[in-house]
Amino acid sequence: ENLMVYDPGYMQTVCCTSRISYIDGDKGILEYRGYPIEELAEKSSFLEVAFLLINGELPTKMQFEKWEHKILHHTYLHTDISRMMKNFHYDAHPMGVLVSTMSAMSTFQPEQNPALLPGMDPYKDTLLMNKQIYRIMGRIITVAAYAYRNRIGRPFNEPAQGLNYIENFLYMMDRLNEGNYKSHPKLVRALDVLFILHAEHELNCSTAAMRHLASSEVDVYTCIAGAAAALYGRKHGGANEAVLRMLEEIGSVSNIPSFLEKVKAGKGRLMGFGHRVYKNYDPRAIIVRKIADDVFSVCGKEPLIDIAMELERIALTDKYFIDRKLYPNVDFYTGVIYKSMGFPTDMFPVLFTIPRVAGWLAHWKEFHADPENKIVRPRQNYIGKRTRDYVPVDKRQ
Ligand code: CMC
Repeated sequence: ENLMVYDPGYMQTVCCTSRISYIDGDKGILEYRGYPIEELAEKSSFLEVAFLLINGELPTKMQFEKWEHKILHHTYLHTDISRMMKNFHYDAHPMGVLVSTMSAMSTFQPEQNPALLPGMDPYKDTLLMNKQIYRIMGRIITVAAYAYRNRIGRPFNEPAQGLNYIENFLYMMDRLNEGNYKSHPKLVRALDVLFILHAEHELNCSTAAMRHLASSEVDVYTCIAGAAAALYGRKHGGANEAVLRMLEEIGSVSNIPSFLEKVKAGKGRLMGFGHRVYKNYDPRAIIVRKIADDVFSVCGKEPLIDIAMELERIALTDKYFIDRKLYPNVDFYTGVIYKSMGFPTDMFPVLFTIPRVAGWLAHWKEFHADPENKIVRPRQNYIGKRTRDYVPVDKRQ
């Protein structure tokens, strides 16, 4: 009996068990390791949430201090990596730079490459696995900041002592700083909360890619590069960039009705709307909307917010969007916030990638600890031609 099911897009396919995050798409619930996202966004910090996701429990004070120290200790890049990053073209998209650099990093850490460790199982060695986690969590902010510095043709800023994770990232970007390279506390907190919201989201496209790659037992740097590549797409982590470009194209509130008519006629999508799992509302979008006001109180109001709010208002009362259960997702307002904070538009997907690394690493660890894990190898439904005779080139029509 053939039990195989044709399921493009894996709409109905459950391919693993997991304890990392829980989503109820109808009720708009998201929990990380059992903690509601709203509570974490209010009370926690991104690095604490990353520990929770990767290790399963909130850290004690001592565990957190060690965690933060280890991660910040690993923010420095090998000189050859920095040199390599300088060779990208001046207008290279920072996501392309990030994907390539994370992949290149695999060649710098051969001691964790299973292919080079005959007779040893690197996934049974917790210390070795933790070391990669510290390195990746630390270096991702440096790679992200350098991708930006390269883009503006400026020298790279080494990570600084005495700054926390978010402050260090902003310091290396050299944006938003208010004397002594201390960023405004409201902006640091806003970014911290945005990072919490983006840290994990069960089997989204990039996390599925992470597990898929991990299943081949390729090294973790290559897995991260592959997951980041999936995130780069505009239907996924590239959506925040696409939203901003869309709002700029709409240009004014008076153009919204004609824009929505085009969307309803199938000419383009309303970016930042719709979700595979959330069919009621995206709980993250509600928190993001509140952060916008905090950021505007420091940076000034971003005029595109008026277009975004009116677009949301009209879309939520329109039959097309109601019938298809399309609501603003996490990316709808983030672009406007990042723009107000001074980030260039092509950095937006990078700002999604940094925190999602925590979720990817949690899944990488969980995958390798799962006794039921298997190489991911779906089947296809072949609909092409069958058994034909080879035709020599001079006889082909
Ligand atoms: N604008 C207009 N129509 C849409 C949209 C949209 N944003 N999203 C879905 N639809 C329509 C789609 O045309 C289809 O209509 P019909 O049944 O008439 O053909 C119906 O809604 C179902 O769409 P789908 O593409 O089958 O839904 P999906 O679950 O495969 O796609 C999605 C989910 C997020 C890819 C999609 O909603 C989308 O492309 N949204 C815009 C991009 C975006 O904002 N992505 C960020 C997602 S949240 C963060 C993240 O994961 O990165």
